[in-house]
Amino acid sequence: MSWAHKDLIAIQDLSRDEILTILEASTSFKEISRRDIKKVPTLRGKTVVLLFYEASTRTRLSFELAAKRLSADTVALSASGSSFQKGETIMDAALNVLAMAPDCIVIRYPHAGLPQKLARELPCSVINAGDGTHEHPTQALLDMYSMKERFGSLEGLRVAIVGDIRHSRVARSNVYGLTKVGAHVTVVAPDTLLPPGIRGWGVEVSRELDPVLKDADVVMMLRVQKERIDEQFFPDEREYAYFYGLNRRRVDLMKEGAVIMHPGPMNRGVEITHDAADGDRSIILNQVENGVAVRMALLYLSMGGNVDAD
Ligand code: CP
Repeated sequence: MSWAHKDLIAIQDLSRDEILTILEASTSFKEISRRDIKKVPTLRGKTVVLLFYEASTRTRLSFELAAKRLSADTVALSASGSSFQKGETIMDAALNVLAMAPDCIVIRYPHAGLPQKLARELPCSVINAGDGTHEHPTQALLDMYSMKERFGSLEGLRVAIVGDIRHSRVARSNVYGLTKVGAHVTVVAPDTLLPPGIRGWGVEVSRELDPVLKDADVVMMLRVQKERIDEQFFPDEREYAYFYGLNRRRVDLMKEGAVIMHPGPMNRGVEITHDAADGDRSIILNQVENGVAVRMALLYLSMGGNVDAD
């Protein structure tokens, strides 16, 4: 197995084997976070810059922890408090960051396409931590890792992705990845929250949640992406929760062994109730733990690590 990329921009760019290589490499990194001393010298002397021009809790913290646990130096910059507020363009900011010789830039940006442009123009590694509605590749990798950890294989797994598919980069990256590795994906949403061109995604589409629940191994709930919505896509949150929210009644429809996932942040009471989010079937916090391991693997691989090394 091999990894020959300096950057990770999109799951669409990866082959099935490359996805499975990353998932396999992540396993050895997971154990490090469970040690008393959570640090190895693997990336000593490397510098990782975190550029987060959009809000984040999980992705930013887990990239920072991942880099630190591998002994890389980290610095973080967000839009607020940076010269972005004085009108500096993101490309100028990136060139200034580059002049300080980072080995890797992790970038989150509210619009699609910037990570790809940076990867093309900068010699250091670039990792996309979410760009607009385009992709969130590391989220999909940690989601697939969490599913593989639970079920052993992704081949033939039945995954329901429920909610705001239209505005969700998590949905896109998961659909691209899961279909490549042989999972069967059903997206569940009202017509207004389905993207144009959904027919070309290689997934089943359902406007009703209840019938999908009895067959799904994984039920992945998505937040309505209010920050990307400037028009009304459903009458109100109560009605949305009634038709598309995961609650105790719906959890009882799920088959034995099926699990609940959510990339976070959750809107409790809208797409998911406390019962569902905090109950026995939820693996939501496992996803968060696995995010650190997967990001350790990606930092290691993108900065020249050998997948066959210890
Ligand atoms: N899942 C995810 O991207 O969460 P954050 O926005 O908190 O990083």
